[in-house]
Amino acid sequence: MTGRFSFTLNATDGQARTGVIQTPRGDVRTPAFMPVGTAATVKAMLPGSVRETGADILLGNTYHLMLRPGAERIDRLGGLHKFMNWDRPILTDSGGFQVMSLASLRKLTEDGVTFSSHIDGSKHFLSPETSMEIQRLLGSDIVMAFDECPALPASEEDVAKSMQLSMRWAQRSRDAFGDRPGHALFGIMQGGVTPELREESAKALTAIGFEGYAVGGLAVGEGQEAMFGVLDYAPGFLPQDKPRYLMGVGKPDDIVGAVQRGIDMMDCVLPSRSGRTGQAWTRRGQVNIKNARHADDPRPVDEACTCPACRGYSRAYLHHVFRSGEMISGMLLTWHNLHYYQELMEGMRQAIAMGRLDSFVAEFHAERAQGDI
Ligand code: GUN
Ligand code: ZN
Repeated sequence: MTGRFSFTLNATDGQARTGVIQTPRGDVRTPAFMPVGTAATVKAMLPGSVRETGADILLGNTYHLMLRPGAERIDRLGGLHKFMNWDRPILTDSGGFQVMSLASLRKLTEDGVTFSSHIDGSKHFLSPETSMEIQRLLGSDIVMAFDECPALPASEEDVAKSMQLSMRWAQRSRDAFGDRPGHALFGIMQGGVTPELREESAKALTAIGFEGYAVGGLAVGEGQEAMFGVLDYAPGFLPQDKPRYLMGVGKPDDIVGAVQRGIDMMDCVLPSRSGRTGQAWTRRGQVNIKNARHADDPRPVDEACTCPACRGYSRAYLHHVFRSGEMISGMLLTWHNLHYYQELMEGMRQAIAMGRLDSFVAEFHAERAQGDI
């Protein structure tokens, strides 16, 4: 594979930006939403269908894939792209965050973290060095530095200690990553909701130097107001000319607010996970397809949506297949949700390019305020 990794900013509107991340596996239009393909699949979707929703890049997880089926196995089978039949860019998270939320018997030291698998209890070790090696074996295009995200509630002192450990791990990640043309390593800012810690973290990361920078440690239960509070200043600590990735966000209104504050990339399980639990996201807000009011409704989830679920199926049908536990329910609602998310991103990209993001956002909120009809 030839070519290099680069980022081109095409336009700004207030703090918001639109551009393109160029990779040897294809372009990523920003602001970008990355569907989550944790276990080498975006659940209930074929890769070609995910692409049809407008996704340029997927997210995969070091933690899950190292445990099952194992990074060496994926490497022997030709890498993650070939394994899951997705030939476009893949970003992989580095594992530490998932260890903290999923694994048991965790033991954290300066060196790394030892933990027991949530699948079979087997013992494993992750460190900056092992995470870089696993992400290399997977063939990830955008590799995330190995970090630690403190569980909330945490004292400011604990947040500071954890952030400083993450910055030492960021340097070790950079050293272990080495020189890999066409692949990128992103650093992850920590520091909770304290401006001084966020600034210290950003300075440490920019001194090391990364191809992109993530804002970590948000969407961990602090609430939208506190998250936007951090996003009002934190992106400003990061280099203008590199992509900024807000990890694990979010609901449509979180995404819109993050883009307004200068975020270029996001990922979240919400559109896919809520599709499987009978929730549809639309211009008018959330629709709970389980609700009895849909049982006789011949209309699609959203009259204006061009996704296969809305073009071919009524609310009554979606209600029926959900209630019957049929697999097509999760397939159709996931498709709709990912389509809606990608259309929202495309709308914001165009609005930023035209310098009219504010009116786009005003319309976004006005339509939601009307509620589902
Ligand atoms: N996903 C959501 N938040 C985080 C974070 O702070 N660090 C990592 N590595 N992944 C995340
Ligand atoms: Zn639809």
